[in-house]
Amino acid sequence: MIQVDPALTDDEFLRLFEKGVGAQWGSDQIDWGLVENISPAQKSALGHVITPVFLGEQTAMLGVSAVLPMVLTGGYPEAALYLASMGLDEARHFRNLSHLYRALGVEPLASRRLPEMWRYHARLMQKHDPIQWVFGILISDLFAKNFYGGFAERFPDTVVGRLSRRTLQDEARHQAFSDRYLNRMLPTMDPAGKAELLVLRDDLFRIMEKLGSRLRGPMETLEWSPEAFIEELWNDTEKWVKRLGLVESPQTSSIS
Ligand SMILES: [Fe+2]
Ligand SMILES: [Fe+2]
Repeated sequence: MIQVDPALTDDEFLRLFEKGVGAQWGSDQIDWGLVENISPAQKSALGHVITPVFLGEQTAMLGVSAVLPMVLTGGYPEAALYLASMGLDEARHFRNLSHLYRALGVEPLASRRLPEMWRYHARLMQKHDPIQWVFGILISDLFAKNFYGGFAERFPDTVVGRLSRRTLQDEARHQAFSDRYLNRMLPTMDPAGKAELLVLRDDLFRIMEKLGSRLRGPMETLEWSPEAFIEELWNDTEKWVKRLGLVESPQTSSIS
């Protein structure tokens, strides 16, 4: 149930919300003309590699919209306030990537050539519990972080690098939210629920491995190996999984 005038006392989420409000920015803050240092082959490769990220930003919008009502009606209005600002961030990322395709003059990869990106989307959308949602959103934020980080490193003085760096600042706030929310809620979850989170992680990674192998050609054009990308993402995710207490001891990848 929602209340007309809830107390709004949870400072951690309120601070994150204020930060999210203060850090809003628009596409007019990006110089979309900075494309001259990107070769035609790199532009085309970028168009392909960014494709799952482009869909992922829309998946993130859907994820935030699905979890917000659960959190608000569940009695956490401060967290719901924050999620509303996060929804705007994801909408901006989606809009910006649409701009970026026009600026680069390239097209995303045809959907049928990347069926795993739809499988990933569908696997995330299966979730109905807010903790599962936030955990899935966290993995997707880490996926986005590693992609944008790689773009920023490879194309520092171009529109791609600048846009990626701005986007990474938003993604850092999203991770801070997941951290606080999951730390708060995981103790209320039974062992079976926690085990299901690890099943979700493994399912998503299995899909991402296939996605990576499909993108091998364009990734190699960008001097990026799908294996290195997945390994980095796995290590990043493992750090979180341990920090959140989902596994006790060092764990090796169960994907193969
Ligand atoms: Fe995003
Ligand atoms: Fe995000």
